[in-house]
Amino acid sequence: MNDQDMVETVEGQKHKMIVFFVAFTAALAGLLFGLDVGVIAGALPFIEKKYSISTFTSEGIVSSLLVGAVFGTIISGVMSRKFGRKNAILVSAIIFALGSLFSSISTSPGILIGVRFFLGIAVGIASFTAPLYLSEMAPPSIRGALISMYQLMITIGIVLAFLSDTVLSYGGHWRMMLGILMVPSMIMFLGVSFLLKSPRWLVLSDRKDEALQVLYRLRNTRKEVMDEIRDIEKSIEIKQSGFSLFMQNKNFRKAIFLGITLQAIQQFTGINVVMYYAPKIFKIAGFTTTAEEMWGTVMVGIINVLATFIAIGLVDKLGRKPILFTGFVVMGVSMATIGTMFKIGINTHHAIQFVAIGALLMFIVGFAMSAGPIIWVICSEIYPLNGRDLGITISTATNWLCNAIIGATFLTLLSDFGYGNTFFLYGGLNIIFIFILIYFVPETKGVSLETIEANLMSGKPINKIGI
Ligand code: BGC
Repeated sequence: MNDQDMVETVEGQKHKMIVFFVAFTAALAGLLFGLDVGVIAGALPFIEKKYSISTFTSEGIVSSLLVGAVFGTIISGVMSRKFGRKNAILVSAIIFALGSLFSSISTSPGILIGVRFFLGIAVGIASFTAPLYLSEMAPPSIRGALISMYQLMITIGIVLAFLSDTVLSYGGHWRMMLGILMVPSMIMFLGVSFLLKSPRWLVLSDRKDEALQVLYRLRNTRKEVMDEIRDIEKSIEIKQSGFSLFMQNKNFRKAIFLGITLQAIQQFTGINVVMYYAPKIFKIAGFTTTAEEMWGTVMVGIINVLATFIAIGLVDKLGRKPILFTGFVVMGVSMATIGTMFKIGINTHHAIQFVAIGALLMFIVGFAMSAGPIIWVICSEIYPLNGRDLGITISTATNWLCNAIIGATFLTLLSDFGYGNTFFLYGGLNIIFIFILIYFVPETKGVSLETIEANLMSGKPINKIGI
């Protein structure tokens, strides 16, 4: 590729083609993350049939990946600092490829659980490192859009996994569903090996000359390069001192607590109940053939991708809080509707089934247009620079931990608590989140990161650190 090839954005700004190549390749990490999260929904019913496993083991197969992701997130801060962002993503691509191969040839549910834990480490590394790398490579004016592209890739990964599962479900080829993910993993490995190293990491590692070379390839003018290298040098003078800051500063602890709360809320909306167990939900809603269950699941995935565009289009116009508010209302009402349909008796009438499925799809719209992307956006905005690594590590790890709790408890909830009550529970949680949103979450639309930091550190209430 010629470094001088330019691409014009919608706003009329011109950026070198290589910026988009870099962004696309790094965002492939999001695609793999989505593929691995999505693939189990279609494979699980076949695995359950093959090994006649208990509910507990099924939940273990789903959630071992998520526990691995908690672990991967925790080690990726150190890894991406020591070995560089590019090498950390390369390691995750290798684990993705090996994990896909081993899960496809695993000979028992126990081995599959172990292999999915290993795969989870790659998902955790990718979920921390790829957005970090993207934010360091992107020209400031399109940084938000490039990070959102990563989020979009996650949802595209989920739907591609649902689709490939559906095609392979006709022959019951669950091993192939898991193994085929080796192909995108290897493509990502090849693509990432051509990527440039992050200039910020190069400066951090005392390799300023190389950082300058990379910036000359990425940016358009000498002035942009010089401004950016000055900013990088200035910002790394502020040493990452998250732990001591956490011990000493109550304002920073408030931000950490907000990040933990937001990520827990994102997961306890119940989104991954649908992502992991969609075919099962279609089945209990009376759509009993494999084709009905699988195509229903594909529809869930497509709606998830499409509704993400609503958030991308509105987040900087309407603000974070009004969109989250709308999302929680939609999700709360949808979950309560599904619960009511189960209480009435899902098999009593076709109309009841369709209302339940309509509500399920509305729930997905509610999530994808709001909490899906926006919680990640807010969590990248609320930490002061010198505690950012620790803050993002803790909030991302919380996301995976709560994700694991949801994955590990849904089937048990259904059998012990009842179908209707389980959905009422999630509906109720979404309504509680509206109050937490109103009283504790700041509006950060259009506020610079420096202002948010100054407000936080001056002791303003947490819901007032934005506007
Ligand atoms: C969440 C994931 C979820 C995905 C669905 C992400 O924002 O963190 O847990 O599976 O959205 O699109």
